[in-house]
Amino acid sequence: MKQNPIGVFDSGIGGLSVLRQLIRFMPYERYVYLGDTARVPYGNKSSETVIQYSEECTEFLLGKGVKLIVVACNTSSSVALEAVRKHAGEIPVIGMIIPAAAAALRSSSSGKIGVIGTRATIGSGAYNNAILELAGEASIKVYSQVCPLFVPLVEEGMTFHPAARLIAEEYLKEVKNKGIDTLVLGCTHYPLMSQLLMEIMPGISLIDTGEHASVTALRLLADNDWLADERHEFVIKPEIDFYITDLPSIFNELAGRFLGFAIDSPKRVSIGTH
Ligand code: DGL
Repeated sequence: MKQNPIGVFDSGIGGLSVLRQLIRFMPYERYVYLGDTARVPYGNKSSETVIQYSEECTEFLLGKGVKLIVVACNTSSSVALEAVRKHAGEIPVIGMIIPAAAAALRSSSSGKIGVIGTRATIGSGAYNNAILELAGEASIKVYSQVCPLFVPLVEEGMTFHPAARLIAEEYLKEVKNKGIDTLVLGCTHYPLMSQLLMEIMPGISLIDTGEHASVTALRLLADNDWLADERHEFVIKPEIDFYITDLPSIFNELAGRFLGFAIDSPKRVSIGTH
């Protein structure tokens, strides 16, 4: 198992923000990344559709012999994690919700936590339920907010545009008024808005879901003795197989923004009905 790759899937390119964190914590691993770019976005689709798509992504990764599946998409993690786990059988699956919920509870001293995400993620109540369940006490308060315009703003490279500030101020008005001290960035795209969010809410602790899921992945692989062998040389670019279901016109620019380095020739594949 040690030398098998880690499988990561997302509705599109945004999950590369999670892959970036996985590489930070586990640079010696091989990765298989699947972005379902033909069917993105998942965030405004029904649970049934997101479950079906997520199962198809899982099936694809299983076919690549992965030793672990990381569900980078917060929407899939919110509504389809159980279905993905069932589908994956023996192969462990890590989603974004529980690691981030635990991190939010560790970080908050006021007990007032904000969560932002897509319509499907927030509508599912997955973060609220996980935080309240883990906390086990009534004094914790969770305030959630859908931020559907953040995804296109990030993809258009407009995170520092005055329009992004106006939109973010409007979205965050209510959670800010509630006096939250911690904000869960419950979407693959939101870490790219961190700087703006910190300017709007000075002193806030931001929870990057990919970062905390990566620590969980590292511990799971270490506990099973499944971590790839370390090598003596520094890893400049880890070994990653990129698969996408459609090639967006600005793929390279987008990928570089999320991942931090350029991607070598993504392969286009068909999954499910695509
Ligand atoms: N990857 C999605 C998420 O993290 C955002 C984009 C989409 O709506 O598909 O929720």
